[in-house]
Amino acid sequence: MASVSGVGLSWSLKVSRMPSSVSSQSRTSSRRVVKMAVSVENKPKSFTLQKSEEAFSAAKELMPGGVNSPVRAFKSVGGQPVVMDSVKGAYMWDIDGNKYIDYVGSWGPAIIGHADEEVLAALAETMKKGTSFGAPCLLENVLAEMVISAVPSVEMVRFVNSGTEACMGAIRLARAFTRRPKIIKFEGCYHGHADPFLVKAGSGVATLGLPDSPGVPRGSTIDTLTSPYNDISTVQRLFEQHQGEIAAVILEPVVGNSGFIAPKPDFHNALCQITKENGALFIFDEVMTGFRLAYGGAQEYFGITPDLTTLGKIIGGGLPVGAYGGRRGIMEMVAPAGPMYQAGTLSGNPLAMTAGIKTLERLKQPGTYEYLNKITGDLIQGILDAGKKAGHELCGGYISGMFGFFFTEGPVYNFEDAKKSDTAKFARFYRGMLEQGVYFAPSQFEAGFTSLAHTPEDIQQTIAAAEKVFQRI
Ligand SMILES: Cc1ncc(COP(=O)(O)O)c(C=O)c1O
Repeated sequence: MASVSGVGLSWSLKVSRMPSSVSSQSRTSSRRVVKMAVSVENKPKSFTLQKSEEAFSAAKELMPGGVNSPVRAFKSVGGQPVVMDSVKGAYMWDIDGNKYIDYVGSWGPAIIGHADEEVLAALAETMKKGTSFGAPCLLENVLAEMVISAVPSVEMVRFVNSGTEACMGAIRLARAFTRRPKIIKFEGCYHGHADPFLVKAGSGVATLGLPDSPGVPRGSTIDTLTSPYNDISTVQRLFEQHQGEIAAVILEPVVGNSGFIAPKPDFHNALCQITKENGALFIFDEVMTGFRLAYGGAQEYFGITPDLTTLGKIIGGGLPVGAYGGRRGIMEMVAPAGPMYQAGTLSGNPLAMTAGIKTLERLKQPGTYEYLNKITGDLIQGILDAGKKAGHELCGGYISGMFGFFFTEGPVYNFEDAKKSDTAKFARFYRGMLEQGVYFAPSQFEAGFTSLAHTPEDIQQTIAAAEKVFQRI
């Protein structure tokens, strides 16, 4: 596994280059060929996004902002999003026929590679029996057993349909169990779009420059307290100010939704202790880190046992899923075993269970996390070295198949530090990489993901592309 020294954003590099001027997105009206934000002499001649542009123009009339999830809209990197046609392994193809090495992986689920043959075959078999029963099915038992035996703190699990639902359920459960109203979350951590979490929520919210969302009543967030990430003294102070009122502390054990930010060595332990001393629950939101940092998630990786854990993404193998789980004594509060209500029409549906089971079976094989760690380490080191050589201020880190880099000297310990990044430069880098056939998350404030399908050649090709792009941004 990665030593966390790779993580502390230790490669900080000095800048001396002036950014080249960036042309805003424009288009030639006759041919409707998109000009990218970066002026690129070596731009591959074949790279156009004509069909993408047409499709996205149509989409904007049909769906708000042309997308069904905001960060996909490329708002923070300029230009328009690429409309995808298909995915396989480590690659995506857009509707103009351009191929990309993909480091988004559908925002995390695609850890064994997109459209894996075994997953597809298993789904085809399951589908013969139907797509949704709305009644118990054996596949739920299988995935539940896999999750329980993998994730150290989970003795019972409830499947839902998204990470948002998982976090909503976990917070309701913590409040029900402790009979207390308040929660502490960390600035820049995202726990889905439920009302109580839309306070300093990083990611898409930060990307759009919205401090919070209109439509969230004050009553829904009044019990949400916030602290900077990696800041124990603020958490301590909040517990002193709100004695007997705090139900839970929830966090991303490694932040992905402000870009990649690792915890300081003692951070989790201190939180564990403070919550225990104060009768509050400690919740690891492992929607992103679960089965990604290690088979048992961040809690296995860091050796921490939270009271509750939320999961999503990977455990659905690319189908909609979420889950929350924890100690039996807490989980038995959930209806119908207990009084805390939570339900879902499609929860535990056989397709999501099948894709999850097949994905976890693959991840469990020996050497998977070592491989992810190796290629991700090579990737981030190569990118940072290339940036340094070109004179850019850059820092970054990784653990297993999760990574990130910021256009700032660092170190980055929290969202305020992350916001020091040169986001305009990130946008130029982003568009340049896209033209070179590399698809990163379209925001400085998102982590990247590798998969078992990425080859060492993909990594070298990405580094070579970064070398070119760093030279001219
Ligand atoms: C840590 C974390 N929690 C919760 C969520 C919400 O999950 P979903 O988008 O499936 O609702 C996300 C989504 O990216 C996430 O990264």
